[in-house]
Amino acid sequence: MHHLHREKLFSLFDENQNGVVFIQGADTMYRYSTDYEFPFRQESNFWYLTGANEAECALLLDLNKEEYHLFVPERDTQYAVWHGYVKTKEQYQEQYKPDHLHYSNKLLTVLNQLNPERVFCLNEEQAEFIEDLDRGFNVDTEALVDALTYCRVLKTNWELDQMRKASQVNNEAYIQVMKSIKPGMFEYELKAVFNQVQLRHGLLQDAYNGIFASGVNASILHYVENNSQIKDGDLFLMDAGFECNGYASDFTRTFPANGKFTDIQAGIYQAVLDGQKAVIDAVKPGVKMEDLHMLASRIMMKGLIKLDIIRGDLDEMMEQNVFALFFPHGLGHFLGLDTHDVGGYPKGVDRIDRPGIKFLRARRELQPGMVVTIEPGIYFVPAVLEPAMKNPEQSKFLNVEKVKSLLDFGGVRIEDDIVVTETGHENLTNVPKEIEEIEALMAG
Ligand code: GLY
Ligand code: MN
Ligand code: MN
Repeated sequence: MHHLHREKLFSLFDENQNGVVFIQGADTMYRYSTDYEFPFRQESNFWYLTGANEAECALLLDLNKEEYHLFVPERDTQYAVWHGYVKTKEQYQEQYKPDHLHYSNKLLTVLNQLNPERVFCLNEEQAEFIEDLDRGFNVDTEALVDALTYCRVLKTNWELDQMRKASQVNNEAYIQVMKSIKPGMFEYELKAVFNQVQLRHGLLQDAYNGIFASGVNASILHYVENNSQIKDGDLFLMDAGFECNGYASDFTRTFPANGKFTDIQAGIYQAVLDGQKAVIDAVKPGVKMEDLHMLASRIMMKGLIKLDIIRGDLDEMMEQNVFALFFPHGLGHFLGLDTHDVGGYPKGVDRIDRPGIKFLRARRELQPGMVVTIEPGIYFVPAVLEPAMKNPEQSKFLNVEKVKSLLDFGGVRIEDDIVVTETGHENLTNVPKEIEEIEALMAG
């Protein structure tokens, strides 16, 4: 399938130009200078174009001939002793089917033969590496990034299938956690349940550091310690996902540790759910992520008014950015080989300088083949709310007594992975999220 990705990239460059693309794949990473080896994860662009899950490789794409050169390391016997094998050139050729296969030490020789007018690189570091080989090469670090971003944003059917598989396993893992949780357990025990389902299905790589947050920890957006004991009455927010063939899933669910929402938990949860569902319903080609962000914010604010947590005129609150006090992150982001995938901001489009929405990671019109997360949330973050309660401009919208009583509430986030289709969308996430469904699942 990766040959389709190369063809897509070739089609974006002028075939008459005498240029090459150069990408260095990922190296094995170690913890400082010890021999603790991190699990290998290929660099996403290299993986996209080659499907080669090997450390220390590089590629050249000859844009004129549309040929693919793969460079692999020449290993010695010591490597075989520690890693179990040394692949022959024939094995590499058979596995990855490049037009030309070389050992890495031939890079300069091949570059000199191709004699390109321009070498397109991913970043300054790789461009410097090429320049250091020979000062005669002209490097460009913009066109390749733009072209790869364009390619990766619109997923092929094969890519969507990998994301569907990652999501199917994620669905199962979430349901297993919801059935397993009990007050008194530690957060990491649920991480163990979650990871066990992923590993059992052969998904070995997490897409990001999973968040398994009980009670007040759920108000910490990147809580990854996952080491607190879960109390009866806590909500539990989990945000985790694994990759299938490099493609991520990224869900969030929030549910009561003891299986039953309290009234206030249900009220706040429903406000988030109403916002999330309305936004997902609105996903279709032509819609803008920033408009969806504001739609979710507005619906959640309506919910908080109904609960008498905030007070006043909804339009005025929206104008005064009251939503940012409770929803301090973006509605969602592109998803793919990276969890926060490329392409959220097309060239010339900047972040919106406004509280809350400035953290939005994607700001463009949705098109068929894009995959986005939709993940609104409401959080009670003391570091945000305590100053707001002291600021008359903001505190006039707050029911201060009620907000004070909720400072240890934590938070609620609900996150689904959504494919934009010609006619609307496909939701890859299929984990119960209605209050009655969650309670029924957890009771069962
Ligand atoms: N877990 C990262 C995110 O939801 O964006
Ligand atoms: Mn997430
Ligand atoms: Mn996300």
